[in-house]
Amino acid sequence: MICRLLLVVVIMASSLGLADAQSSKHNVAHRGASAYAPEHTLAAYRLAIEQGADFVEQDLAVTKDGVLICLHDPTLERTTNVEQLFPERSTMVSWEGKTTRSWLANDFTLAEIKRLDAGSWFDPKFAQEKIPTFDEAVALIRGRAGIFPELKTPEVYKGRDVDFETLVAAALDKHQLRGLGADRSTAIILQTFSEESARKLSAMKIGVPVVLLLSTGKGWDTAARVNEWKGIVQGLGPNKSVLLDNPRLVEWAHAAGMTVTPYTFRSANSGTFPSVRAEMEHFLYTLGVDAVFTDNPDQFPRR
Ligand code: G3P
Ligand code: CA
Repeated sequence: MICRLLLVVVIMASSLGLADAQSSKHNVAHRGASAYAPEHTLAAYRLAIEQGADFVEQDLAVTKDGVLICLHDPTLERTTNVEQLFPERSTMVSWEGKTTRSWLANDFTLAEIKRLDAGSWFDPKFAQEKIPTFDEAVALIRGRAGIFPELKTPEVYKGRDVDFETLVAAALDKHQLRGLGADRSTAIILQTFSEESARKLSAMKIGVPVVLLLSTGKGWDTAARVNEWKGIVQGLGPNKSVLLDNPRLVEWAHAAGMTVTPYTFRSANSGTFPSVRAEMEHFLYTLGVDAVFTDNPDQFPRR
């Protein structure tokens, strides 16, 4: 009986990706190798794998026809030529406390989104790059690295008949990324800034680890605050400044059985550190975090 119980626990831990996620320090390619290739393109994901990333991050958005795509902003104009191709299709969009005229991805079908150039804004040599679907990202990454999707800006879908968490759960089932029959070669961890979304994923027993992202100024300065999330999420993903202000967060999270994966480490801004490698080194081996989100996966200091 005890042996059977142990077996069940081991199977559950591996299907959740927990064994993988907690065994060593992990290099999470933020939006792919986004220092060197346009974020959230297959070129950026491919390069991240070549540079040795343990996980490749996707920010997820939902198209008008209900398809999960990989896109950081809820809107299309920063990283595509949507203004040129669809000049009449902008609307007033409220996001991060601002209301601006924008091209919301959820107003466009996948077929329309696939017409956009998602690479030229970064460098003309990437002009052929498209916004990938989550399915395309999984097909490229699975078996080569882990997958680290974020349910991005769920507030944008309020009143739009989009059940983001259920769409993600269905995608995990479609790709056999959760449950007893899960693909063991591909670890998966979900992430969200939304406490509501994190609680919903827990209530629906999503079956894979969930990281709650912490932006600055949210009052994560007590062990009690961390313990509120014990058993609901399996990790915290603080802005790196949150950890510099309060390094004890790592100790509290670990005591509660949670991993810590701060964001974002980039060569374009390594603060007071001499290099992004030195900055990651400090967080990983002095502060003791488990993984880092970095635009520069080639600079990850492995020991
Ligand atoms: O998801 C971790 C990190 O990516 C959070 O910041 O804005 O790049 O999604 P953002
Ligand atoms: Ca993200």
